[in-house]
Amino acid sequence: MAEKLDSKLEAQFAKAPIWPTLDAPLPASQMPDHIAIIMDGNGRWAAQQGMVRINGHQAGVDSVRNVTRYCGQVHVTALTLYAFSTENWKRPQAEVRFLFRLLKKYLVNERAELIANNVRLTAVGNLTGLPDDVQAELQRTRDLTVRNSGLNLCLALNYGAQDEILSASRGVLEHVASGKLSPAEIDEPAIEKELFTAGMPPLDLLIRTAGERRLSNFLLWQASHAEFYVTPICWPEFGKDALEGAILEYARRKAAYGVAPTA
Ligand code: FPP
Repeated sequence: MAEKLDSKLEAQFAKAPIWPTLDAPLPASQMPDHIAIIMDGNGRWAAQQGMVRINGHQAGVDSVRNVTRYCGQVHVTALTLYAFSTENWKRPQAEVRFLFRLLKKYLVNERAELIANNVRLTAVGNLTGLPDDVQAELQRTRDLTVRNSGLNLCLALNYGAQDEILSASRGVLEHVASGKLSPAEIDEPAIEKELFTAGMPPLDLLIRTAGERRLSNFLLWQASHAEFYVTPICWPEFGKDALEGAILEYARRKAAYGVAPTA
């Protein structure tokens, strides 16, 4: 059934004259407000180039910059990037150390550009578990960009969605224990207020690079109504064209199914 519907839609869109490119802005109702990306495939990309894994992470920083610039240009409200998961600690210590060095360098070197482009940098995750020097640079970049009113670039660091849901549950239970909330009053907004992403717009589009079809403990609550887009492109090669492709696919689905998801 699903297959039939898809091929019908494909045929319908094949007949459509020319799908607008983002040079001609999409209707606001078809434009994602909040995009999140599982940046995967750095290691595979490096291996394909005959390089070592860390070169893939290094090249991935350029994609972070390109994608951030592009989201700012097309007026996306929030971009959440999965930069370090709670599972990533299991990687070889040398790779973990390299990732944090890279992150620290990014936070220092990109500050001027983030400020110039009106980007506000925020972070979600268990931030107190990060190395002290990374926490300090993160705090500094957050402070320096806090008044920016353009794109919210949110880095998921030492982030795990199950951790986040546990911590939100504890937060809600504390409100119940202190008598601020009765069990019957626990609803979706009450939980959302306790998530790391509280205050961010609902997630519209979740992209995963390098072809895997897993959520990998990323934004499990927030992804409930998001469109999921998987591309075979590895993160270091994911740039403007690839992101534009994902946004146009999102817009195509919105035009086909409307704003409210039916399933
Ligand atoms: C997944 O590729 C990527 C990561 C675990 C880290 C993401 C980090 C960056 C893109 C660079 C730094 C980020 C910022 C925000 C400055 P992988 O190593 O799992 O690739 P593989 O699956 O091909 O091995």
